[in-house]
Amino acid sequence: MAELLAVRDLTKRFGGLTAIDGVTFTVNEGDILGIIGPNGAGKTTLFNLITGFLRPDRGAVIFRNRTITGWKAHRISQLGLTRTFQITRPFGNLNVRDNVAVAALRSAGSLEEARDVADEMLRFVGLESYREYETEKLPIGLKKKLELAKALATRPSLLFLDEVMGGLSAEEVRELIQVLRKVHESGTTLVVIEHVLPAIKELCHRVIVLHHGAMLAQGSTDEVFRHPEVVEAYLGEVESDAGY
Ligand SMILES: Nc1ncnc2c1ncn2[C@@H]1O[C@H](COP(=O)(O)OP(=O)(O)O)[C@@H](O)[C@H]1O
Ligand SMILES: [Mg+2]
Repeated sequence: MAELLAVRDLTKRFGGLTAIDGVTFTVNEGDILGIIGPNGAGKTTLFNLITGFLRPDRGAVIFRNRTITGWKAHRISQLGLTRTFQITRPFGNLNVRDNVAVAALRSAGSLEEARDVADEMLRFVGLESYREYETEKLPIGLKKKLELAKALATRPSLLFLDEVMGGLSAEEVRELIQVLRKVHESGTTLVVIEHVLPAIKELCHRVIVLHHGAMLAQGSTDEVFRHPEVVEAYLGEVESDAGY
């Protein structure tokens, strides 16, 4: 499989804290890569560095053989690399459909076309009956789906998902896994940060474990979940409250 993304020696400091410390990995076309690690491990910071929301102090991000280190997020998104946010932040004054249409506007030729793309994405994630809803009134599970629809509206070839299952019921998690499978089958490569570890086990081909900003382990999902240090340090504790 062709290499889509290469991250080399990525490093980010916040004052005296090294939030990401020399992280190196690759993502191939068709992968579903999971990134796990306790709170504060640096997972969101890693996403911010790769998708253009933070500049690294050191290292390189290469997407489709092009060095994009330090590029702004909207330029990176135009190339086909998009992310969702852990803390969803929809435009509260727009309804559900127009929130997604705004995300589609960059590639659509007109507002009408952007709304058509929005409708397509809302159907895809199962939110079509909420099109006219005020976004603020959506329950958390549906806000996560909206976040996914907004990301899909940019038509990414590589999609980074930051805890899209956080705060969802077991039923909603199952539903979202099915939606993500569809996204993957439609040709989008996925990188998934998730605290819901059974979902990672079910969905991901490979897993990276982050610990204090560095990579503690990486490998196939089976290998990583059997890694004694990983099991002892992270999985026991998180799995018990996963609620899924
Ligand atoms: N903008 C920032 N300024 C200062 N410290 C930050 C900032 N963003 C994250 N951090 C710190 O970096 C570390 C990693 O945070 P984060 O990437 O959010 O971890 P995770 O997503 O794995 O929970 C934490 O100690 C956090 O407090
Ligand atoms: Mg985070």
